[in-house]
Amino acid sequence: SMMNEISGINEMERKLKEVLNLQEVIIVPGNSDEAPWVTAALGRVCARRMKEMLIGDNIIAVSGGSTMAAVADMLTPDFAGRKNLLFVPARGGIGEDVEIQANTICSKMAEKTGGKHRALYVPDQVSPEVYQSFTKEPFIKEVLSLIEQANIVLHGIGDAMAMALRRNTRPEVIEKIEAAHAVGEAFGNYFNEDGQVVHKVPIAGLQPEDLPHVEHILAVAGGASKAKAIKAYMKSAIKSSVLITDEGAAKEILYS
Ligand code: F6P
Repeated sequence: SMMNEISGINEMERKLKEVLNLQEVIIVPGNSDEAPWVTAALGRVCARRMKEMLIGDNIIAVSGGSTMAAVADMLTPDFAGRKNLLFVPARGGIGEDVEIQANTICSKMAEKTGGKHRALYVPDQVSPEVYQSFTKEPFIKEVLSLIEQANIVLHGIGDAMAMALRRNTRPEVIEKIEAAHAVGEAFGNYFNEDGQVVHKVPIAGLQPEDLPHVEHILAVAGGASKAKAIKAYMKSAIKSSVLITDEGAAKEILYS
C-alpha cells in the first residue's frame, strides 16, 4: 500500500543517514537510471528543500550535470519571494555539453526565478600558464570571489568512469583514473572507494576545501548506477549537509 511505501522510504532515509553519516537524507521513489520522471522528482525535492534555506541575500553556487538541469526545470517565479538570489557556477566548464554546463544552468535558474547570475568563462584545456593568467583577470577574479561567498552549494555526483568519458578525458588520464580505482566524481575531484581524491581536474572555481565555510551543501544524485559514487563521495573529506537521492541508489547502497 501507499502507507507502507512511505514508511519504507522513511526507514531507508534513517538508515542511509546513519550509514553515510549525514545531517539529512531525502529519498524519492523510483530509480532514475530507469525513469526520467525520477530525475524530475529529485529536482523538485531539491528546489523545495533549497527554498527553506534562503536568507535575504543568497549566493547559490551550482555544479553542472543533468541532475542540476532538472533542479533548474523545477524553479518558478515565486521561488524566492522577496529574497535576492545570485546564481554562480561552482566551477568553470569541465568539458560538458553546453545544456548541462554550470553556466547554462545558472542562467536558467536566474531566468526562472527572476534572480541574477554570473558566468565563469575559463577554458578547460589550456596550459597551466594560460590558466594562471586567466584567473588573474579582474572579471574572472570577481566571479571567483562571489563563488567563495556562496551560502548555498548545489551539486551533482557522478560515476567516475561515466564522467571521465562524458568529458572526453585524455586516454592517459582515463588510465590514471582506472588504475587508481576511482568510483565517484564531484567538483572535478575523482574519488576511490575510500573517499580519497585520486585525480583532480585543474579548473577554477569552488574547491572542495572551501566547503566547510558554506552553510548549506546539497548533493543531489540518484540511480542505482551511482551507488558506489555516492558512497565514496560521502566518505571523502567533503561533507554535504543534505543528500537528495532516489530509492534505486538507496537500496543499492544499503542492501548490496
Ligand atoms: O560535470 C559536472 C558534474 O556536476 C559532476 O561533478 C558530476 O559528477 C556530474 O556533473 C553529475 O552529472 P549528472 O547529474 O548528469 O549525473
